[in-house]
Amino acid sequence: MSDRTGTTTLTLAPLHGVTGRILRSAWFRSFGGFDAVMAPFLLAVPGPSAKRNHYRDLVPAEAIPVPLVPQILGNDADSFLSTARALRDAGYARFNWNLGCPYPMVTKKFRGAGLLPYPERVDGFLGRVFADGLFARGEATLSVKLRLGLANPGEILALMPALNRHPLEAVILHARIGTQMYRGSVNLEAFEAAAALSARPLAYNGDITGLSGFMALSERLAGVSDWMIGRGALADPFLPARIKRATAPRGGSGSGPVRFPAAGAEPPAIGSPDWLSSIRVFHDDAYAGYRAALCGPSHVLAKMKELWGYLAPSFPSRRRELGGIPRARSFAEYERAVGAILGRT
Ligand SMILES: Cc1cc2nc3c(=O)[nH]c(=O)nc-3n(C[C@H](O)[C@H](O)[C@H](O)COP(=O)(O)O)c2cc1C
Repeated sequence: MSDRTGTTTLTLAPLHGVTGRILRSAWFRSFGGFDAVMAPFLLAVPGPSAKRNHYRDLVPAEAIPVPLVPQILGNDADSFLSTARALRDAGYARFNWNLGCPYPMVTKKFRGAGLLPYPERVDGFLGRVFADGLFARGEATLSVKLRLGLANPGEILALMPALNRHPLEAVILHARIGTQMYRGSVNLEAFEAAAALSARPLAYNGDITGLSGFMALSERLAGVSDWMIGRGALADPFLPARIKRATAPRGGSGSGPVRFPAAGAEPPAIGSPDWLSSIRVFHDDAYAGYRAALCGPSHVLAKMKELWGYLAPSFPSRRRELGGIPRARSFAEYERAVGAILGRT
């Protein structure tokens, strides 16, 4: 994901069930700072058996102002290639292979993080994919997103020579192991050990939640210029713009390809009136999108409750009001709860 100019590049991480088409569109109508977005994983399917709606999160391509990189989960190169070809026909040219999904349902089938202990299988898969015309002729590029290992952070060290053998566009490393799921802390020592063995600069992912934490991390991981942020950008959607502004070369606007907030302007502080009014617009946009796309309150409210799970830490003084969100059973109850948090009655 590097723009190869030495500047900081930021990619929105894939969050399956969360950062789908509706939320991505709403997010980019209100906020900026990201240079690219990685879509949540799509299962690799053999061409003819794919139902049309298998691709509905990505096809037709949506109008967001930054490149969208589809991510594919699977361990069979033929299915991967037929899925990538279907997406290429819809206009995509950058793909990502998911080697990080930690759920036992997935890993026990040797998919996602389940492949990390098997460098020879990863090598064989990449060899098949890069031998295919789509990737061999450079019509498409491939990156991988992975963890340090399935059960042991040493697995990445054994895997690195296999990754080094293939012309990957980028390697994005979430600095946890699979069995941690999303718990515990990131392992920076293990990230550094992997970076030392990597033929290309690694992109960093994991627990970037604020500007000061990001600055400390970027000082420690001085060779990293590409970063991926997930939950932190849902808790404070101005975080990418804050990072871009703080790391912009002198004279640059720092706002990335999206000019919001206005070029050079300071993103509003968490909880400030401007921050709240932007969150309100974003919230209402996503809520309207889900109401238009999904059937019935339970599906819509499940999506909105999940979003509030990420936003909640940015409302420390609204803990009592936040309690109303999971309890809401109807649109009216939900809207009352949201009004109490975002200042509407
Ligand atoms: C609900 C949820 C869904 C996720 N779905 C995906 C996915 O589809 N593909 C993927 O590579 N990672 C997925 N991840 C992992 C994130 O992309 C990211 O690696 C992880 O959250 C750490 O980054 P963060 O601390 O910035 O959120 C998911 C994480 C969460 C919490």
